[in-house]
Amino acid sequence: MPSALAEAWAEKENSRTPTPPGGGLGPFYKRLAPTSNMLREAGDPGMPLVVAGQVFDTRGSVIRGATVEVWQTNHVGIYDLDGYRYRARLTTNGEGKYDFSSVMPGHYPARVCQHVHFVVTAPEHKPLITQMYFATDPVFEGDPGKNYARDPLIATPEVIRPVTLVGDPKDIHAAVRFEPVLEVL
Ligand SMILES: [Fe+2]
Repeated sequence: MPSALAEAWAEKENSRTPTPPGGGLGPFYKRLAPTSNMLREAGDPGMPLVVAGQVFDTRGSVIRGATVEVWQTNHVGIYDLDGYRYRARLTTNGEGKYDFSSVMPGHYPARVCQHVHFVVTAPEHKPLITQMYFATDPVFEGDPGKNYARDPLIATPEVIRPVTLVGDPKDIHAAVRFEPVLEVL
């Protein structure tokens, strides 16, 4: 049986900082988005995007059955306000994992950077409302650590995620990992 000290050490090793909140729900959130993780339809213009990750708590445990709501613009920065394009309400699986397929969001006049909105909720955890950004956004000029404050809604560069291009050369998509961390209530 592990000693209390070993347990305390393991807890410290696994602990994660809560994902910083940012931006609030904003004007474009819609409740009751579809539960499909395929937000992209055949023929949609724009760079295909796959976002994947696990939801954790601050102790480093994965959260199963967490609700991950996402919404974003299309490739030219337009939100679908009449319907539910590029919106989803997902649930993390038994390993706390979620993923969705979309396109890279565009820029829109009221905001500086490309972003995906997230609301992550789970019983007995503090709800998280935040936004994820792309390290490849031209606004950052290749240095998000230095230039993140060009968007006044970005308080810390940790919500700016690396973008990897993957797939067959004729069928490339952008891949991003984003692992929200919720505080335990
Ligand atoms: Fe937005």
